[in-house]
Amino acid sequence: MKDDKHATAQPQHWRNWLSFAGGVVAIGSFFAFLLLFAIDVFAHNGNPYMGILAYVIAPFFLFLGLGLMGIGIWFQRRHARRMGVVETHSLLAVDLSRPDDRRRLQIFAVGSVVFLLFPAIGSYQSYQVSESVQFCGQACHVPMKPEFTAYQSSPHARVSCVECHVGHGPEAFVKAKMNGVHQLIGVITGDYDRPIKTPIRNLRPARETCEQCHWPQKFSGNIDRTYPHFLADATNTAYAIRLSLKVGGADPTHGPVGGIHWHVSQDNKIEYLATDDRRQIIPWVRVTDPQGVVTEYRTAKFTNDANAFEIRRMDCIDCHNRPAHQYRAPNDAVDFALSIGKLDPKLPWIKSNAVAVLAAKYATEAEAMAGIAGRLRATYASAPEVDDLVRKVQTIYQQNFFPEMKADWRAYPVNIGHKDWAGCFRCHDGKHSAVGTKKQIPASDCTSCHTIIAQGTGAELNQMSPRLEFKHPGDPVDGACNDCHSGGP
Ligand code: HEC
Ligand code: HEC
Ligand code: HEC
Ligand code: HEC
Ligand code: HEC
Ligand code: HEC
Repeated sequence: MKDDKHATAQPQHWRNWLSFAGGVVAIGSFFAFLLLFAIDVFAHNGNPYMGILAYVIAPFFLFLGLGLMGIGIWFQRRHARRMGVVETHSLLAVDLSRPDDRRRLQIFAVGSVVFLLFPAIGSYQSYQVSESVQFCGQACHVPMKPEFTAYQSSPHARVSCVECHVGHGPEAFVKAKMNGVHQLIGVITGDYDRPIKTPIRNLRPARETCEQCHWPQKFSGNIDRTYPHFLADATNTAYAIRLSLKVGGADPTHGPVGGIHWHVSQDNKIEYLATDDRRQIIPWVRVTDPQGVVTEYRTAKFTNDANAFEIRRMDCIDCHNRPAHQYRAPNDAVDFALSIGKLDPKLPWIKSNAVAVLAAKYATEAEAMAGIAGRLRATYASAPEVDDLVRKVQTIYQQNFFPEMKADWRAYPVNIGHKDWAGCFRCHDGKHSAVGTKKQIPASDCTSCHTIIAQGTGAELNQMSPRLEFKHPGDPVDGACNDCHSGGP
């Protein structure tokens, strides 16, 4: 009986144009994959596109081809059934007592192993590529250029994007890939925000990202930092400030809890709400201390119900919001270049001129390059190193300003200090009072967060003192620093 069945012609469902085309695509991309794979293994040139072609594009077409074959077979079978062709024999029937079937099975087994091995290696590599800095930062070129460029000169230049943006675990992975597909569509259709919006609403909590590397119990104590500046005068007078920042710590077993990192102690809970998209206006703060005592602070103007807003628990990125992508303001960028001797402080008015050409509005990078060159050449025509000067200011521009994406310091507030942006003073401004008491979030005292240990220029900086009054360059000033300072001219 069995042999009778074999004698009947097998319906050859793969014989249709769709399956045939799918087969061609699959085989073609399989060989493309082999070739690209070989190139990637043997040529260590580190080209990110090679990886993307080999482990993302080629497998995509391979599976597309296989999918088409399947669909073709399915249609053909349905068609055959409709036409009344009776399947006489299950396609999968194997009879090991027949040598023919044994041989076929061997070939099939070896073939499958080889065939499956490549996609297996491939998919591992695909995973690696999709997690790599090149993929995140370079594959979608135009929109990511600002973040990628700023990242490369940040303290985290050797930390991959996914460590902060994806975090660990399968849920994070799936979420990120879904998000990635959405972004990819945006890139292809040109439908993305310029500049890309900040802050990122769905960034994972710092516990799962920053704290994987930065031991949250670490006691940092006081950190000494010098902020170099130059005045906008003819001689570009140097004016530096040296602070001892009371960073402190947040864990009682590793040092006193207090200072700036007090906010992230496991035992305290600080929550706030912001009424603007960039989290710059914070009219309401709630503190829950280790004993569970709740204190609610409000500004006088804010009479709304807090629960109508999104309440956020404060973590690392509420202060360190630009750990990897800092777009330097023109003032800071020029101060920094002057302080390391990249720009020559002996060139008259270079501080104010360089800031002015950087801060001017340009529509494209090319326009900016021409604008910077034109204005600096006109001003410093007689300086012998004018070419060098132009190139250096252009480089500052290219690293911090991205007119095509409208991304620069204006679009991305820095929350860690209080000079150009409100930063700490979003809450520590003397306007947040505890409901029902006179208690305030500490503000007016300039020594609650840091002491000034030296300030001024030249020899003055060597006269250190544990606690100096801030001496503003020029005439004494009143008001919040960011009333006058904006990072620009
Ligand atoms: C050290 C951690 C860290 C690394 C590494 C990192 N980022 Fe970010 N990124 C952040 C934080 C923090 C923000 C701002 C989040 C906020 O304010 O909500 C951000 C913001 C962004 C934004 C939104 C726009 C903006 O500037 O606020 C994009 C896009 C982005 N990152 C892309 C990247 C890419 C691409 C890489 C790798 C080349 C990368 N990031 C590496 C921490 C990181
Ligand atoms: C994969 C590990 C890793 C992750 C994740 C990470 N960092 Fe870092 N971070 C580092 C390393 C390494 C350094 C030291 C760089 C150096 O010494 O120059 C550093 C330095 C820093 C510094 C000191 C920067 C300076 O100016 O010297 C700060 C602040 C910081 N990280 C904050 C953060 C924040 C906030 C996050 C989360 C958004 C984060 N880090 C995520 C590894 C990491
Ligand atoms: C209230 C604001 C604030 C919060 C919240 C905050 N930091 Fe800081 N952190 C600072 C300031 C200010 C400094 C001093 C350095 C500076 O001004 O750049 C600092 C310094 C650091 C440094 C450098 C310290 C060293 O020993 O070199 C690291 C690393 C750091 N913070 C990581 C974190 C991490 C991780 C978190 C979240 C668990 C966090 N910070 C939360 C404000 C904050
Ligand atoms: C979201 C609001 C908010 C922001 C932003 C904020 N703080 Fe605070 N901070 C508070 C509150 C609330 C307290 C506690 C007030 C109280 O109940 O005593 C506090 C307390 C402090 C203390 C005293 C801690 C102690 O030892 O008891 C320091 C120092 C401090 N903040 C520094 C900073 C610095 C520096 C920044 C900016 C980098 C900053 N804060 C940003 C809300 C904020
Ligand atoms: C709530 C905490 C806090 C208070 C209060 C505070 N500061 Fe600061 N200040 C900071 C932090 C944090 C930085 C460091 C910013 C950074 O690392 O970029 C800073 C930086 C500075 C700098 C250096 C800025 C620069 O870029 O050169 C000066 C000057 C300064 N503060 C003066 C003052 C004066 C004057 C007062 C009193 C009116 C004051 N601060 C009150 C937290 C505070
Ligand atoms: C009333 C306006 C005003 C206020 C308020 C103000 N400044 Fe200034 N600041 C100026 C002017 C004007 C200059 C001189 C600009 C120059 O020569 O570059 C200056 C210069 C400076 C400089 C040196 C130049 C530079 O690179 O920025 C520093 C540092 C500085 N201010 C810090 C502060 C700090 C910190 C605060 C807040 C505690 C503050 N200023 C408040 C107007 C102000």
